[in-house]
Amino acid sequence: MERGRGASSMRYSAQAQDMNNLEEGVEFLPAMNSKKMEKRGPKRRVVVAVVILVFLLVSLVVGLLVWHFKYRNAAVRKVFNGHLRVLNWDFLDAYENSSSPEFIMLAKKVKSTVEDIYRDHGDIGPYHKETMITAFSEGSVIAYYWSEFLVPKYREESLDQAMANKQSLVQKLNTRLRNPVLKVESVVAFPADPSIAYSSRDNICMFALHAKEGEITTFTTPGFPNSPYPNNALCYWTLRADANSIISLTFKTLELEPCTDDSDYVKVYNSLSPVEPQALVRLCGNYAPSYNLTFLSSQNVMLVTLVTNKEGRFPGFKAEFFQLPKMKVCGGVLKGERGTFTTPYYPAHYPPAMDCVWNIEVPSRKNVKVRFNMFFVLEPGIPVSSCTKDYVQINSTRYCGERSQFVVASTTNKIEVRFHSDQSYTDTGFSAEYLSYDSSDPCPGQFTCNTGRCIDRSMRCDGWLDCVDGSDERSCTCTDQQFKCQNGWCKPKFWVCDNVNDCGDNSDELQCSCATDSFKCDNGKCVPSARKCDGKDDCGDGSDEGSCSKAGLQTTVSCKEYTYKCRSGHCVSKQNPECDGEQDCEDNSDEDNCNCGIRSYTKMSRIVGGQNSDGGEWPWQVSLHVKSQGHICGASLVSESWLVSAAHCFQQMQGTSYSDASLWTAYLGLTDQSDRSNANVQTRKIKRIISHPYFNDYTYDYDIAVMELQSPVTFSSFVQPICLPDATHVFPVGKDLWVTGWGATTEGGSGSSILQKAEIRLINQTVCNQLLTDQLTPRMMCVGILTGGVDACQGDSGGPLVSVEASSRMFLAGVVSWGEGCAQRNKPGVYSRVTSLRDWIQQQTGL
Ligand code: ARG
Repeated sequence: MERGRGASSMRYSAQAQDMNNLEEGVEFLPAMNSKKMEKRGPKRRVVVAVVILVFLLVSLVVGLLVWHFKYRNAAVRKVFNGHLRVLNWDFLDAYENSSSPEFIMLAKKVKSTVEDIYRDHGDIGPYHKETMITAFSEGSVIAYYWSEFLVPKYREESLDQAMANKQSLVQKLNTRLRNPVLKVESVVAFPADPSIAYSSRDNICMFALHAKEGEITTFTTPGFPNSPYPNNALCYWTLRADANSIISLTFKTLELEPCTDDSDYVKVYNSLSPVEPQALVRLCGNYAPSYNLTFLSSQNVMLVTLVTNKEGRFPGFKAEFFQLPKMKVCGGVLKGERGTFTTPYYPAHYPPAMDCVWNIEVPSRKNVKVRFNMFFVLEPGIPVSSCTKDYVQINSTRYCGERSQFVVASTTNKIEVRFHSDQSYTDTGFSAEYLSYDSSDPCPGQFTCNTGRCIDRSMRCDGWLDCVDGSDERSCTCTDQQFKCQNGWCKPKFWVCDNVNDCGDNSDELQCSCATDSFKCDNGKCVPSARKCDGKDDCGDGSDEGSCSKAGLQTTVSCKEYTYKCRSGHCVSKQNPECDGEQDCEDNSDEDNCNCGIRSYTKMSRIVGGQNSDGGEWPWQVSLHVKSQGHICGASLVSESWLVSAAHCFQQMQGTSYSDASLWTAYLGLTDQSDRSNANVQTRKIKRIISHPYFNDYTYDYDIAVMELQSPVTFSSFVQPICLPDATHVFPVGKDLWVTGWGATTEGGSGSSILQKAEIRLINQTVCNQLLTDQLTPRMMCVGILTGGVDACQGDSGGPLVSVEASSRMFLAGVVSWGEGCAQRNKPGVYSRVTSLRDWIQQQTGL
């Protein structure tokens, strides 16, 4: 009340009263208060009894606790992996063979030394069960071992601490022996990964390999390539090289179980014992052949381990290694106007424990800048804001992680670039160039980003962030064709109200949003919210009736143009239910025939220049050749025997009837046109070509064709079908799609030898129809980048435009059809709309 808390004070005072009651209640234990006890003299006997009772109670509790911690609590088994250095011993080749008498003799000595060290430590000795010496390597002699402990739970932490503490694992020399047999130092141990415990494994395999001078040594997982590697297995390959050499290890192919928390994995260590602080990489899943999987050690040893779980059948790996002399210096002095430098062994993974310094100096009247063209200095779990492990340092700024091209400029003619890698986890590193520049004009003829990067002048104020810091889009005056966002950006007017937040602050979508109690359709129309999911198509495009699903099986609704029809004939209202990994139809027909749209390789190469595709990246891409003319058009594989392409590829032209199936050859699994005899390529003749009967060679309406192969293809990592969307499938405006092909790389230019890929955006149909002066029909859709620069072009026709959908499956959204020029501003490419031609494809192919 005094504090005047109003209504709530009532509750507070009530609580305070409760507390007082509690305090009074404490009195019922008089033994705690000796003064009161004395006053109550006559009750002395009661008091004594209470004291005894309390004493008994306390001892009971203590007893219980002791029993609980010491006896009842089962001891835990702990394994540590470690290594130590023996100073007064010379390395013999026989130490590499663990069954040689020399190995056994030295192992015995090291073992008893380790046991002595443990015995001296109260937190370690009593729990030590067993120690095994697993390997030796040079220097003078490094011994690798593991130790097993059985420790009660309550002592576990102190054991961990003692084992982690360098001071506790020191040799106390026995004064009674004048000369200790072995003098050891740098004893280290790390808790072993519990997943690599020997027990509970059905299959253990161990291999010891030594590099031969000037030779490459190959090894594989057991059974490779004819049978899958064993389940529930643990395999070790110890790799060694001569003293003063290092090891270069490359996985030529690697295909393991797809990565999950407990999937099979391969781990490589920069040591002969599997200790986390010296792990170089953990690999799982499936790597495209072009993925760089070369790793370097910092010493003459390496350990490769394979850990597998109880199920799965996967091929495994084939690896090779060789030795090379240890690098003496890293970095150096770089002079001149310009030049390049990279991390050691780039693009292989740089070795761990490296420090390089490059001192770069350009002529004195110029300034210097460094451009990192490739930058992969990523350590798992390390935020790029801290860069505490591996990093590049310039002045006092550290760079790490995976970055796209960036520039660091100096305001003098000198710059120092440092590179540091720690003991664990390495990456492919960087490739950089240094350039001299004029301080008054750092980017001759170009725009200079605040970061120092030079970009084309036309990229300034074009609505796209080309400088990473956005400096090319700041302080712009918007042109007539641009919309001024609230945050000051200028964006093309066509992007206003296209349902995509282009400004970043959504201001381009504000004036067009619907009233609060209405729903905005995909086509921009507003309908009252109450009409959403009422079973009626109020928008006209069905978007108010899509996504009306609740979790679980879809309730059937009456069939509409926009509802998905299950095989049973029932319809569901969920948008895009096909192959999304969820059963939506009661007969599960929405998940039938879903063996499509997935590329086999989960890890694609990160180091491919520009927009070259990786082998196996687009396994449904087909190249259609005509005898003596080479590649003419693209196509997409949709089943073992059927392709989808564009009708205009098969028109009569210059006296040739391209509709003649016998003229054509389809190449599947192809990436490089100049490498058509590659083993992954499958070649097929064409049995028949069916062009859409409504194809109009003037308007390009209905620009679609299907082709049957003379014999079916065999699906492989390089040949896979793309999913065909249901006619009701919705690809929303603004979505990023991928187009691929060997077409011209510039307007009027020549085709590309390597399959190209480009990411483009689906554009609003009405907006696009304005841009392309009313040439669009409902069988067409526009996809592109309105500022120009990215597009399909001549020779891409018939090829796929794909979309990544639910459960990362890819669907064929369009077929390359036509465009006004290529990659021009405000002239997006036009694609045949597969959903509106879907029924015809079904009629022709049965798919
Ligand atoms: N008609 C062209 C061909 O035969 C494809 C044109 C695509 N053009 C574009 N700008 N997207 O290859």
